[in-house]
Parts: sequence; structure tokens; C-alpha cells
Amino acid sequence: MKISLPTTSPLCHTDFTFGVATAAFQIEGAAEGRLECIWDKFCATPDKIKDGSDAIVACDHFNLWQNDIDLITSLKVDAYRFSISWARVIKLDGSLNPQGVDFYIQLLDTLETKKIKAYVTLYHWDLPQHLEDKGGWLNRATAYHFRDYVALITQALGQRVYSYATLNEPFCSAYLGYEVGTHAPGLASKNFGKKAAHHLLLAHGLAMQVLSENSPTTQNGIVLNISPYCGKTDSDEDKAAAYLADQHFNQWYLMPLLKGCYPNIIDTLPDSEKPDVFKGDMQIIAQKLDYLGINYYTREVVRADEEEGFTKEQDKVLPLTDMGWEIYPQGLSEVLVELDKRYNLPPVLITENGAAMPDIYANGQVNDLDRVEYIQRHLEAVHNAVNQGVDVQGYFAWSLMDNFEWAEGYAKRFGIVHVDYATQKRTIKQSGVAFRDFIDARHSGIRLTKHPNV
Ligand code: FCB
Repeated sequence: MKISLPTTSPLCHTDFTFGVATAAFQIEGAAEGRLECIWDKFCATPDKIKDGSDAIVACDHFNLWQNDIDLITSLKVDAYRFSISWARVIKLDGSLNPQGVDFYIQLLDTLETKKIKAYVTLYHWDLPQHLEDKGGWLNRATAYHFRDYVALITQALGQRVYSYATLNEPFCSAYLGYEVGTHAPGLASKNFGKKAAHHLLLAHGLAMQVLSENSPTTQNGIVLNISPYCGKTDSDEDKAAAYLADQHFNQWYLMPLLKGCYPNIIDTLPDSEKPDVFKGDMQIIAQKLDYLGINYYTREVVRADEEEGFTKEQDKVLPLTDMGWEIYPQGLSEVLVELDKRYNLPPVLITENGAAMPDIYANGQVNDLDRVEYIQRHLEAVHNAVNQGVDVQGYFAWSLMDNFEWAEGYAKRFGIVHVDYATQKRTIKQSGVAFRDFIDARHSGIRLTKHPNV
């Protein structure tokens, strides 16, 4: 089974970027070489991770990175999106840890020799634990610690990076980490979620200011997870519920970044739930973005709820991935077109898209045709959005390889490359082959049109 798009598709131009994505905590392992982070502590807390696992070894990427870059190169991608572990590059006193920094410098230098563009995420959820001990994202000072870390690391990495993302999915850090507690640090209070979110957004804005000083030539932006929220029925009540959920989960991040204000629902929040917004914060947050990264996986269905205004429908619409997430590719077109109408968007990158599937590894292969189809249909959705005028410039598959899927542990496999955790052997799945062949055909297609007689 192949992945294909019409050769005239803008996604088949070589200026459209294709990549694979990972995150430090999910793949690196080598926990002993860095400071403790909130996910280490969360993993060590009973019953937080479904299979009781941790990421002390994970994919052992810290030791196997050279092989992994060869793997990435063999997939013919233009770009690799990965994150820097704050806890690996910083010491307790806030100064740089040269060994940690060296790891990323070697990685970046090797990517450069392979002509693979580095898309570096500065924060993918792994806050150093000593900062959590002082209040973490509930403490305004954490935003300034993040700024200082960004200043040091961007200086150290110099010209090696193509693009920076300040934060990955601040919604997950704030809501899952501080409001419902299913992610690290595992705090659960309605009074916490929006306070943490504000400090994360502030951290983003402060980091953007640093980036425009230290790294003005890189593409600098942020990555948000966006899902369309749909009412369970067409009733006015369910529609209102969907509107409200969208305001809380999507617009709460988009509006400050793109318009410099919070949605009006802020006025309806009890004082205890309101973020502590200081004068000038919103201007800091609304720095000009070179791009907006969007992670898209599924849609959410909600219905009216008297107490909360909305509640997530638990009965999912089929078909589902192994995560129990509905496969809803048209939602990606819908989200892109809708955002483009509503905002003056910078160029957009799909920084994550992919699926955990019930893979079977047999005879040295994973025949994940379900994942091939998932990618095919989501690329079609991106193609449709671009044809409707949305400026999407890239697509990154989540993930390069199977890895530590946060609270789900290792049971859920998102990779286009299979990882045998006992031996650390990597095997490219059929989806990896299809993705590679699609990217490669695109390159040769361009060559053919340039040299029609060859
Ligand atoms: C996203 C995360 C990423 C991965 C995927 C499945 O929310 O950014 O690290 O876990 O979900």
C-alpha cells in the first residue's frame, strides 16, 4: 500500500517540508546524566503510568543517536523535529551543563552533514523537578527561568538550528498536568489550570523575545494541539457546549498568541480560577510568530452539561486508533480552514500527526496498513486545506519511532519505525516505507520535470 497525492499537489513540491518528530523524554533515556524532571517523579509515583514503566532507558537514543540519524536519513525526510531536555543542559544553579549541551551539538552537527533541517522544541513537558518544587508552572518565576535557559542554550547552539518552537502543546502541560492531573506533575484543581497556562504563555513570549535577539534567522514559533470540538447532537445546547469547549481548549491559547487577549469566557470564571495577568503580559505573549505549529490527532465530541457547560462524550465514533481516538481526517482540513478564516495566521506547520495502532511484529516486519491509510488520509486533508488557501508549509509524522507514550507507557506504539525495547532493534514499518517512498517520489518527480529529456 502506497501513500500518494496528485503530482500537482502543493505537498509534492520540494519546498513543502516533510519530517519526523520525537521528544527528549520519550526517546532519550540516560536519565542518570541529567537532572530529575517532573516526568521522572511522576513515573516513580504508583499508578500514574498505565504499565508501571518509566523512561530511564526509553529508546536509549542518547547512546544510539548516530544509528537513529542514519535511520532518519534513510527515510529521506527533509527535517527532524526533536526537543531539548532542559534538565540535561542546565545545572541546578541555572548554568549550562557542557556534557548535555555537547550531546545536542553533536546531534545537530551530524544532521547538518546529512542535510536534514533541525526543528528544535525547547520545552516538550519535562520541567526540571527542582523548579516544580518551587511551584512549577504555577509560579510566575518559572517563566523567567525558562527565558534564561532559552538564552543560554540558543547561544550555545549557535547557527546549527533551522527552527525553534518555544513550547509543545501548552494546553497539555497546563490542563493535563495541573488541572486534571493525568500528566506530570499530577496536580488536579480547577484553580490551577489557567494559572499554569498563563505562565506557560508568558514563558513563550519571553522566549520569543530572546530568540529574536539570539537567533533572528531561525524560524521561531510555538506548537499547539488543536482538535475540532463538535456537539453530540445538533441541539442548540450541544452546539453551545462545543463552542464553550473550543473556547477553553483551543482559543484559550490561540487568542493570546495571535490577538493578545484571552477569550471573553475569562469574565465568567470565578476569581479563584482566573490567571494572574500582570500589566504588559499580553503584549509579551503576542510576539510575532514566524510559524504556528499544529499537532492534530482526532476530534472531540461534547455534550451539554448543566454544571460545567460541556462534558466530553465517552462513546467514541468509530473507527478508533489504539489510543481510542476517533480517526477523523476531515477535521484537520476543517481546523485549518476555520483558523485561517478567524485569524491572520502565520505560515502553518503540521508539527505532529500520527496514530497508535495495534501493530503486530512478525517475520521481521510490521504490516501497519491502518497507519499507512491514516497518514494518506491526513495528507489529503492537508492538501485540501492548502487548496482552500491555507498556507501550510510542512508535515511531521509522529513519531519517528515507537517510544514512551507518557501516561500510557510503552503499550501504545506511534512509530513509523518499530522498536524492540528488549534489544533496542529498530525496524522500519510498512508506514515508514510508504512515507519514505512518497517523499522520495516527490524529489524524483521534481527532477523529472526539470529535465524532461532524461
Ligand atoms: C502529543 C505529544 C506527543 C505524543 C503524541 C501522541 O500530544 O506532543 O509527545 O505523545 O501526543
